[in-house]
Amino acid sequence: DQARQIALTLAEFRLSQAQLLEVKKRMRTEIENGLGKATHSSATVKMLPTYVRSTPDGTENGDFLALDLGGTNFRVLLVKIRSGKRRTVEMHNKIYAIPIEVMQGTGEELFDHIVHCISDFLDYMGMKSARLPLGFTFSFPCHQKSLDAGILVNWTKGFKCTDCEGEDVVELLREGIKRKEEFDLDVVAVVNDTVGTMMTCAYEEPTCEVGLIAGTGSNACYMEEMRNIETVAGNEGRMCVNMEWGAFGDNGCLDDIRTQYDRAVDENSLNEGKQRYEKMCSGMYLGEIVRNILIDLTKRGFLFRGQISETLKTRGIFETKFLSQIESDRLALLQVRAILQQLGLDSTCDDSIIVKEVCGTVSRRAAQICGAGMAAVVDKIRENRGLEHLDITVGVDGTLYKLHPHFSRIFHQTVKELAPKCDVTFLLSEDGSGKGAALITAVGCRQREQEA
Ligand code: BG6
Ligand code: GLC
Repeated sequence: DQARQIALTLAEFRLSQAQLLEVKKRMRTEIENGLGKATHSSATVKMLPTYVRSTPDGTENGDFLALDLGGTNFRVLLVKIRSGKRRTVEMHNKIYAIPIEVMQGTGEELFDHIVHCISDFLDYMGMKSARLPLGFTFSFPCHQKSLDAGILVNWTKGFKCTDCEGEDVVELLREGIKRKEEFDLDVVAVVNDTVGTMMTCAYEEPTCEVGLIAGTGSNACYMEEMRNIETVAGNEGRMCVNMEWGAFGDNGCLDDIRTQYDRAVDENSLNEGKQRYEKMCSGMYLGEIVRNILIDLTKRGFLFRGQISETLKTRGIFETKFLSQIESDRLALLQVRAILQQLGLDSTCDDSIIVKEVCGTVSRRAAQICGAGMAAVVDKIRENRGLEHLDITVGVDGTLYKLHPHFSRIFHQTVKELAPKCDVTFLLSEDGSGKGAALITAVGCRQREQEA
């Protein structure tokens, strides 16, 4: 009967403890591959060195510009950091839209647009002539050989601009600034959002040595021992590694838990075959998984009176904020129906029950596999330090983590169960990753002075 058929469909998304432990174990294997000299060139989880060698120590000082590109919002920020007994950080920022034509146009158009926004911001702040040092939060995989250069490996999420992959995005930004001939800036650091988030949180809480983004995309970074990073010379101390864990599974190692719906989402994406783990657990894709399940259930006559509406065929209708509303326990079913109505989906009461269950099942799996990844990371750090027990803080940001009513709870629970030897505290970044980028820029400026 119908209820059994639906239950069978959703059963594929319900992972057992044993399966989650297996995900954790495979993540660990991919981490080792990414770090190893012989294996890193073909590794899927790239474990990119960031040249950030320590978390903030409170001596950072100065005025900095920061850009924050790659999440829901593009921001330009002015960050004023004051060291000393009464440390303060003052931030001013403005959000700018990036039209979809620009996200998927030419690289030159993208960087012209970015520079145009910086120009507007400097006018707004009355700072056109200042030549401030700038930290560039660029939330995509970059190969770094220093703090101030990052070669874009490939675009992810909703971006696909031409002529950028394989190029140094700092150079592309500098060229854009030159083309504009209006102001000058000193680009000091390129920073992944995970790293910016870790640094933002570490400024308040020194035990924060991991950064997590559960938002449009999914990714993590952490302080790894230099001796384990075989792709960078030197064995002393630590360096932050941008894992780019979204690509976990791109070699097929998660195929046994991927469903036909995951494959459909992948096939309809801008980057087929890439970022397979991210496509199972981040905000940009969860709604798409839900939509594909709903289409299938409708085709089989279990939903919406068997009628597939144009709305249901529309990509991207279930944004994170809608999923979050639908799954809110404070919402009566009637309100769930109202939300579906808003989206253009005519539902019966039974429909709304099913939709809510589908959403809950998809987001639970997302939180669990994300937790399995994090369990692998904290256990690795514990082993690095030869500890029987590790206390650590993870700095977190992202709309999925912040807005969804259940994601964070299930995620925490999973980390706890899968890494029982670690006591993990999660600290929400209230200031985004721009503050962290400014802190990194401050350290970069100081290093440069010392070298000069
Ligand atoms: C923000 C950070 O707070 O979180 C961004 O400043 C980051 O850099 C973002 O990309 C991640 O969340 P989302 O959900 O906007 O992708
Ligand atoms: C994508 C990007 C990664 C970023 C993450 C979260 O996975 O490749 O660099 O950290 O999204 O924004």
